[in-house]
Amino acid sequence: MSVTTTAQVLRAAGVSRVYGSGASEVHALVDVSVEVGAGELVVVVGPSGSGKSTLLHLLGGLDRPTSGTVHLGPDPAAAGGPSAVERELGSLGEDDLHGVRRGEIGFVFQSFGLVPVLSAAENVEVPLRLARVDAAERAARVAEALEAVGLADHADQRPYELSGGQQQRVGVARALVARPRVLLADEPTGQLDSTTAGRVMTLLRDLVHSRGVAAVVATHDPDLVALADRVLVVRDGRLVTV
Ligand SMILES: Nc1ncnc2c1ncn2[C@@H]1O[C@H](COP(=O)(O)OP(=O)(O)O)[C@@H](O)[C@H]1O
Ligand SMILES: [Mg+2]
Repeated sequence: MSVTTTAQVLRAAGVSRVYGSGASEVHALVDVSVEVGAGELVVVVGPSGSGKSTLLHLLGGLDRPTSGTVHLGPDPAAAGGPSAVERELGSLGEDDLHGVRRGEIGFVFQSFGLVPVLSAAENVEVPLRLARVDAAERAARVAEALEAVGLADHADQRPYELSGGQQQRVGVARALVARPRVLLADEPTGQLDSTTAGRVMTLLRDLVHSRGVAAVVATHDPDLVALADRVLVVRDGRLVTV
């Protein structure tokens, strides 16, 4: 079930990214515009090298566009403070951008990105430590996040003691524990078998819907497209209309 809402959270306007210069110039993304609303799961598909990761990096403020702009809409829940107004990520300094990435955006990685020496709970706790959430609140939120991904019984296990699907569910819990408004996932099921991939992706979709997160997931797995609220197809750096 999709949450119907018009609250626009993330918007890219005419974004292009050129890597390199001169003869080695690569036009990785060309004039891409996209809007993502609260509770909406947008899946970006396209062959390898089409520009999916570049788009996610720009949307998440990990990289800056060569031209065009990326905007994070005002947070309706923010009582004053920087997130109460719309921000253009390209106009922010490194510190402010870092704050946006830490506080308003959750990332899920293909390789899970878990710290091997930390337990599942400790991995999920990392974003809350960075946000200086106090210990009692951290414990409650970590427990809730692990519960939400069905891993309450695996809190003390290290990544190597978990299956790939379980590791990525820890990755999803970590991405959402700080209650970001935006979730970005680059090939989150690329290292999972198709059954596990479907389960992880279904879980991710349900959390995106129930928590009203604006999510963009890049994948080249056609099976995952069925779970999307909206599909964007990229080819040679351009959005293709489907
Ligand atoms: N840091 C970089 N420097 C130079 N070229 C890059 C860089 N990152 C990506 N590219 C190129 O940009 C294009 C798009 O890459 P990418 O966004 O990674 O595509 P996808 O994620 O769809 O596989 C490719 O031609 C790739 O080789
Ligand atoms: Mg990629």
